[in-house]
Amino acid sequence: MKEQLAQIKQQAMEALQQAQTPAQLEELRVRFLGKKGALTAVLKQMGKLSPEERPVMGQLANAVRAEIEEMLEKQKAAAHAAALEAKLAAEALDVTIPGKSVALGHAHPMNQVLQQIKDLFVGMGYQIVDGPEVELADYNFTKLNIEEGHPSRDRSDTFYFNDDDTVLLRTQTSPMQIRVMENAKPPICILAPGRVYRKDEADATHSPMFHQIEGLVIDEHITMGDLKGALVTLMKKLYGEEAVMRFRPHHFPFTEPSCEMDMQCHKCHGTGEVDGQVCSTCHGEGWIELLGAGMVHPKVLEGCGIDPEKYSGFAFGMGLERMAMRRTRINDLRLIFDNDVRFLNQF
Ligand code: DAH
Repeated sequence: MKEQLAQIKQQAMEALQQAQTPAQLEELRVRFLGKKGALTAVLKQMGKLSPEERPVMGQLANAVRAEIEEMLEKQKAAAHAAALEAKLAAEALDVTIPGKSVALGHAHPMNQVLQQIKDLFVGMGYQIVDGPEVELADYNFTKLNIEEGHPSRDRSDTFYFNDDDTVLLRTQTSPMQIRVMENAKPPICILAPGRVYRKDEADATHSPMFHQIEGLVIDEHITMGDLKGALVTLMKKLYGEEAVMRFRPHHFPFTEPSCEMDMQCHKCHGTGEVDGQVCSTCHGEGWIELLGAGMVHPKVLEGCGIDPEKYSGFAFGMGLERMAMRRTRINDLRLIFDNDVRFLNQF
């Protein structure tokens, strides 16, 4: 029996030395140490030994098992390391090969200007709000004091969703004034940028979809002076300290009094002429219309549950494309929406 054990040990050691793969090692483990393996077979004969011999043989058998197990583990580790080595060699990367360069984009010029305007207003304490583009006629028109029959409500100007003309694509961001005033108490100080839609043919200055930025400030003692301060600050920041503005009386149903703000043409400096020719930038006007504004109409305040005796406020609405075109010197609105990278790369 002693010889049998010695033989098993020797055979096992030799076989293990030769084995290279985890599969071969597993096969050897079963062959020598498994339930039906060589060592187990020897142990089964223990019963035939004398009581004195048994513990001696038992110890010897355990020692052989331990040695085989140790060798098995050692060879397993070696096989694993070799496999890893082979895998790494096979998958070697040449890190010196130049990578594929990814073209880095940038914000769309429209978003760049929008971001600047938002930053400016946030700096003045305005909160940015967002609202639905599919709007109720009630909010887009009625609550803004725009009566039935007003030309802007016409089906030829506005995209309606239903036959009774109650749901539409908003034609302006002004309904956000109502949405905010119905849900918040003064002081209110918000800026609402977003898409608006009108039935316009696309040309150099028109698009059926464009962007507006609405502003609204409501508190006690708000005056037209506050409106002027906010807008002049914005324009000087956007177009430079030398920018010259004028406020001109106008009419909007939801403000009283109402005005439009123009900027002096930067090309002809208000003269309307360049080298004896009509200025092409302002078409000889000397001024460029930028936005509509005014003091929120008492009827509008009242309709939203705000007491016009106690509170007053101003509102303004500007076209983002117009502001961006002035700033980036883009002369055709359609370029902004074409998404031609050759055009966009210039900004
Ligand atoms: N919503 C107007 C438009 O689309 C612009 C406007 C004018 C907005 C006066 C205002 C305002 O908030 O007070 O023509």
